[in-house]
Amino acid sequence: MLNYSLLQSLLFASLWAGSAYARSAFNIKAHGTGVRFAASGEPNDIGVTTSNDNLYTVDIVLGGQKFIVNLDTGSTDLWVYAPGKEIKFTNTTDLHAQLHYGVGEVNGTIKFAEVQIGDFTIKNQAFIIATEVKDLDLTDYDGIMGMAFDNTEIYDKIQGAWGTAAADELARAPITSIFAQDTSRPNNFDVQLGRTSELEDIAEGAFIISDHADDFESVTKAPQLPRFVDSHWSIVMDAMLVNGKSFAFNQSRVAGVPSGKTIAVLDSGFSLPQLPGPAVDAIYSSIPGTQYNPSGHEWYTPCNASTNLTFVFGGQEFPVHPLDLAFPVAAPLDINGTGVTNVTVCLNRYQQSTLDDSFDLILGDAFLRNVYASFDYGDYYPGNNTNGLPFVQMLSTTNASTMWQEFQEERAAALAELPPAVDPALVLQALQRLAQKDEDLNNTGMGAAALASDDDSSSNGDSWGKKYGPIVLGLLGANLLVGVVLLAVTVTMCVRGVKGKSVGSRYTPVRFKENADDSERATLTYSD
Ligand SMILES: *[C@@H]1O[C@H](CO)[C@@H](O)[C@H](O)[C@H]1NC(C)=O
Ligand SMILES: *[C@@H]1O[C@H](CO)[C@@H](O)[C@H](O)[C@H]1NC(C)=O
Ligand SMILES: *[C@@H]1O[C@H](CO)[C@@H](O)[C@H](O)[C@H]1NC(C)=O
Ligand SMILES: *[C@@H]1O[C@H](CO)[C@@H](O)[C@H](O)[C@H]1NC(C)=O
Ligand SMILES: *[C@@H]1O[C@H](CO)[C@@H](O)[C@H](O)[C@H]1NC(C)=O
Ligand SMILES: *[C@@H]1O[C@H](CO)[C@@H](O)[C@H](O)[C@H]1NC(C)=O
Ligand SMILES: *[C@@H]1O[C@H](CO)[C@@H](O)[C@H](O)[C@H]1NC(C)=O
Ligand SMILES: *[C@@H]1O[C@H](CO)[C@@H](O)[C@H](O)[C@H]1NC(C)=O
Ligand SMILES: *[C@@H]1O[C@H](CO)[C@@H](O)[C@H](O)[C@H]1NC(C)=O
Ligand SMILES: *[C@@H]1O[C@H](CO)[C@@H](O)[C@H](O)[C@H]1NC(C)=O
Repeated sequence: MLNYSLLQSLLFASLWAGSAYARSAFNIKAHGTGVRFAASGEPNDIGVTTSNDNLYTVDIVLGGQKFIVNLDTGSTDLWVYAPGKEIKFTNTTDLHAQLHYGVGEVNGTIKFAEVQIGDFTIKNQAFIIATEVKDLDLTDYDGIMGMAFDNTEIYDKIQGAWGTAAADELARAPITSIFAQDTSRPNNFDVQLGRTSELEDIAEGAFIISDHADDFESVTKAPQLPRFVDSHWSIVMDAMLVNGKSFAFNQSRVAGVPSGKTIAVLDSGFSLPQLPGPAVDAIYSSIPGTQYNPSGHEWYTPCNASTNLTFVFGGQEFPVHPLDLAFPVAAPLDINGTGVTNVTVCLNRYQQSTLDDSFDLILGDAFLRNVYASFDYGDYYPGNNTNGLPFVQMLSTTNASTMWQEFQEERAAALAELPPAVDPALVLQALQRLAQKDEDLNNTGMGAAALASDDDSSSNGDSWGKKYGPIVLGLLGANLLVGVVLLAVTVTMCVRGVKGKSVGSRYTPVRFKENADDSERATLTYSD
């Protein structure tokens, strides 16, 4: 049987009616969520913005040009794609840098320029000017600003060419460059991600360096959660509670983690959290009326229902807003077997992880929207960075006693603008019928794989699944849902071990383009 995930069927069966529709499908309206933002104009608040709850960006000025960069706590290198922009360099090199992602690649050259981030100015910041970008949708941003640790491609290349002392001095990430300018400055940055609302399509959050938002000064009294795995903002998680019941994780794959606890990576570049499959199942099976689709590991939930999900760190409970568990998707489906109509169902945001890495789960934006987080490098000093033990401190921003009322109101408002919400079981059945039909088509040589390709890339269509695998399905789905090619889901992660040795892969946004041919079969495919 062909893959019959909802997202795949939208892709392959070519029933998708246009991006405007997809856009509204994702337009989850939510306001009054109890999140308090740092008052704008507060000292040092640089601000982080989202228009789709999936991509969080910061404005910077680099070499006299303005860039919108993805604020990514999961990687470190700064790169921008700048065609037509004249960047004023402070130094140049011809050192080639290549960033590998789970999907996608960035090739470029290491350059230096003055960078302004809020009120901070870095005179001579190393970055990569991208020359080739593959499989990244740069519609809404120009590059990535990593906020993790200083062992990176830029560092390695400069160390290789100019030696360790030069690398320690010149190859730092922007954040540690800022710390290095003034060693008396607190070594922290704070992040609070906003959630888009009925009233505002743009949500603003806090991004503050060396300071804390006025309303969240007490974050310094929160338990310190030490970084556990080097080069990631990875911390010990005590528990995950589903309706108050602790989920039994397997023994952590990280050595030295106490039994019953796990290692979570806090990654603002990852829109959709990645958990072990059984943990995802525990969350969504607790919602009455949900349906599991093994094809694509999707959970369909009734849009008016959610569950009480809480993560526990350092003995503190962090409730997840019910709005962050699943989001409405509008799809043209033949629900009754009598013809295609537009219907709405909700889809899981917490996904089954396919990552095989040195930690247990990744808590991305759908978790981070529920906290005010302070990332502290400890007594880390750039160039002398072996002594500091970085740590994270967090305060909850989701009020468990008001969140359900908010959920009811805001979800109802979102659904009012969408096609009728239907029983998830009917969606699953419709997809299964669709898959059967596709299989029949495939037998005549006109199957979904063929439909997925455009004129010049029919072979890509065929090899697509094999090549990119399930991670891409997840990304792909999310991309479709946030407006096809208009808005990208951001999924970045840079996995590295000891300095200079790559121990894993990096994941980053997937790029699509829309193709419509004469036969009304508008499809989406990868493009270079
Ligand atoms: C589709 O057809 C091709 C050959 O025509 C076959 O190799 C492939 O297995 C079929 N795929 C499915 C999912 O049935
Ligand atoms: C500028 O680049 C050259 C090599 O191209 C290097 O030797 C020098 O140290 C760099 N200077 C600064 C200030 O970055
Ligand atoms: C980046 O450069 C490498 C080596 O030159 C090359 O193999 C690769 O295809 C390039 N990637 C892109 C996206 O152009
Ligand atoms: C624990 O590990 C086993 C074997 O790999 C796996 O089948 C099972 O799903 C895992 N359970 C959890 C809760 O992750
Ligand atoms: C959700 O809507 C369905 C259909 O209208 C209704 O039967 C169900 O009780 C509602 N569930 C909740 C939790 O409100
Ligand atoms: C969530 O927890 C609250 C308080 O314990 C409870 O009243 C509510 O019914 C729970 N909601 C769901 C959907 O389980
Ligand atoms: C399915 O059929 C029922 C009964 O005929 C009808 O009330 C309902 O609106 C139909 N649903 C869809 C999505 O077509
Ligand atoms: C679904 O909605 C889109 C956008 O409003 C519309 O263009 C399309 O015709 C609808 N499809 C069906 C089957 O009603
Ligand atoms: C580097 O670390 C050593 C050993 O802890 C310490 O004595 C020294 O002051 C540090 N240097 C800087 C510049 O922080
Ligand atoms: C949650 O909201 C209620 C009602 O507005 C309020 O009384 C309570 O103080 C809030 N709790 C927290 C932790 O902010």
